[in-house]
Amino acid sequence: MNPKTFKIKNFGCQMNVYDGERISELLADQGLAAAADGEDSDLVVLNTCHIREKAAEKAYSDVGRLKREDGSRPMIALVGCVAQAEGAEAKARSPMIDMVAGPQAYHRLPEMIAAAARGDRPVDTDMPAISKFDALPVRRRANPSAFLTVQEGCDKFCTYCVVPYTRGAEISRPWGDILAEARALTSSGAREIVLLGQNVNAWEHDGNGLADLIRAIAKIDGVERIRYTTSHPADMNEDLIAAHGEVEKLMPYLHLPVQSGSDRILKAMNRSHSTESYLRTIERVRAARSDIAISGDFIVGFPGETEEEFEATLRIVDDVRYASAYSFKYSARPGTPAAVMEDQIAREVMDDRLQRLQARIAQHQLAFNRSTVGLNTQVLIERSGRRFGQMIGRSPWLQSVHVETDVQPGAILDVTLTAAGPNSMTGAARQSEAA
Ligand code: SAH
Ligand code: SF4
Ligand code: F3S
Repeated sequence: MNPKTFKIKNFGCQMNVYDGERISELLADQGLAAAADGEDSDLVVLNTCHIREKAAEKAYSDVGRLKREDGSRPMIALVGCVAQAEGAEAKARSPMIDMVAGPQAYHRLPEMIAAAARGDRPVDTDMPAISKFDALPVRRRANPSAFLTVQEGCDKFCTYCVVPYTRGAEISRPWGDILAEARALTSSGAREIVLLGQNVNAWEHDGNGLADLIRAIAKIDGVERIRYTTSHPADMNEDLIAAHGEVEKLMPYLHLPVQSGSDRILKAMNRSHSTESYLRTIERVRAARSDIAISGDFIVGFPGETEEEFEATLRIVDDVRYASAYSFKYSARPGTPAAVMEDQIAREVMDDRLQRLQARIAQHQLAFNRSTVGLNTQVLIERSGRRFGQMIGRSPWLQSVHVETDVQPGAILDVTLTAAGPNSMTGAARQSEAA
């Protein structure tokens, strides 16, 4: 039977969330209704992530939990990066999976659902030359802060990472398509556009780079803020750095993962940047925009990482003074070069290093938050808070800010930051003409 209602669960990065939004719109276009929270649905789409073992395994444990008390179950679609990596094997692992579609094939879900309703178990992990984007409906609903994928895939082949295999080669979406989508998002309520890509700063089209794209998006009526993520240090060019100093709508925040503070480890990771070149890039970015908040990603326990090499990572955290950062225990991923390297690090050692790194990052995050107390700034309101009359939004530096106000999501509110916590700020609305 063809499903009438659906539910989607996203497991991965921002691009995974973006894919989830587009899948929802595609299914809605086919006449399926989104099931409410806590309600049962005819179809469940598991939009999976393969980046670390935990995320990948979570998808399968979720499949098992979808069986209902009466023994029946919804139709189940496995999509995303686990689907790409495992293809038909996923069906063998779980007989409950009705279809498998990779990140470049999800525009074909309507046909696959029809096939599954007939009892087939279709698998599509093609990476077709014709982009899925051309086959997807135009954007009609947007959050105040809206994701827009402009670049997909990765050619960097860091030795620990599955993304080049699950997302394929680096591809930039064309300039005109991106501007059209940005306009559609703004007319649907977006005030901030977050440009996404696995290596977003490698975006290029017809001789234009990401900085040109940012300047063009800044000219669209209704776009008030622009962000982009994730960037690779090697693609952080002069023009993009200059844009931070000159495009007012480009928010003072840069997510630039370094992964490790040890040059030997960076080399083993095939990161193509050194600690020195990374620090020099940060310096140049700060020269262009002195108040910029820097964020990053770290991996602890890469094969062969010594205590001294780990301490070098703590040092680079101190050198950069991150406003926020994500850190992960190394996870050996099938098919990657690092998975077969000698000297895999013991779990207890990784646990200890992660704890120490996170404590260090938290110190800097709190220091950054405290340094912004007293500033008059603007907050893009995104949702209501837990307390009555409280709303939550983002500062230009991507801090989560709690404010007492009666404005709705999408408002940009003049705020004085009044108190700093480890993970969020408190703000007071200022009387003004702000929208
Ligand atoms: N393209 C981006 C992000 C890719 S995935 C970049 O290059 O920075 C997001 C983060 O997950 C990475 O930055 C890295 O810190 C982490 N990661 C990737 N593979 C991992 C693995 N095998 N084990 C642990 N963390 C990993
Ligand atoms: Fe993975 Fe490295 Fe590509 Fe980032 S740059 S997606 S970490 S291979
Ligand atoms: Fe995960 Fe795929 Fe994103 S592996 S991090 S969902 S690109």
